[in-house]
Amino acid sequence: MGITIQDIVYVRYQAPDLDIMQSFLEDFGLKLSARTERALYMRGTSSTPHIHITELGTKPTALGLGLLAPSYAALEDLASETGAKIEETGEPGGGVCIRLTDPAGMRVEVLFGQDKLQELTHRAALTMNPAMPRARFGDVQRPMAGPSHVVRLGHTVIHTPHFRETMDYYQKMFGMRPSDTYYAGQKENMIGAFLHCGLDKTYTDHHTIAILAGEPTGFDHCAFEVVDFDDLMLGNQYLLEKNHSHSWGVGRHVAGSQIFDYWRDPFDNKIEHWTDGDLVNDDYEPVHTEVGPSTLAQWGPPLEFESFAKLSRFSYED
Ligand SMILES: [Fe+2]
Repeated sequence: MGITIQDIVYVRYQAPDLDIMQSFLEDFGLKLSARTERALYMRGTSSTPHIHITELGTKPTALGLGLLAPSYAALEDLASETGAKIEETGEPGGGVCIRLTDPAGMRVEVLFGQDKLQELTHRAALTMNPAMPRARFGDVQRPMAGPSHVVRLGHTVIHTPHFRETMDYYQKMFGMRPSDTYYAGQKENMIGAFLHCGLDKTYTDHHTIAILAGEPTGFDHCAFEVVDFDDLMLGNQYLLEKNHSHSWGVGRHVAGSQIFDYWRDPFDNKIEHWTDGDLVNDDYEPVHTEVGPSTLAQWGPPLEFESFAKLSRFSYED
């Protein structure tokens, strides 16, 4: 039952002004890939045609996500299992997809056969010089100031009051596996699950989708990988200079270990830059931890009180 998805492809939002969204996302480090009357498609430096889509619509909201199928045959299996049709995407980048809705109510598009674009160039990751072993000799560090260079979409986190059902859905339907999980109060009261793509021995991001118990339904945030730590910090400086709204960071997470920096786009969606994340495979042993400020970050400023209070209050019922 189900298929094994390979990665997340994009996140899809709705907003009332595409110019404002494009301007912010360019400051954040994404590049314009395509734009139509109705939608904005932004890319990273990788070959994926677009990793952030905004559809024009009155109400700002998160609509859903795209996932990568391993083959056309897998899409056919998914079509016969769900009764959904394989359709042309009808969007820049082409390819075909199956359109589903997860138990949280988010749109899930499972894709195959999208075009690959020419990768965009960016500077190489800096060679750091730790106390030991030394790695840089006779060379200086001079990364250029400016927006971060977003390479790729790493993950999204879905908020839903249907926590258990949604977590089960991504595991059964898409072969995802728990990396780390969190509870509030009693151990049985699981309120967060970080899921990786179940690629057997192949290493993949610690989490590609995470599910958090909570309301309202939507994305808690989406998260984009940048080149390295200096790229994240120079992006932080640039976004501050442009008077964008900072949310949380800079710090280092526990689950996934990423160095993170959270922002708000002009429509109040939380959006993350990250670097230096953990890679896991199916041998990874999940850890079940009580949620709390110190379990979400190893170092960094305190988490916005509201976010933490929401999580720790939540109690899911079967
Ligand atoms: Fe994140």
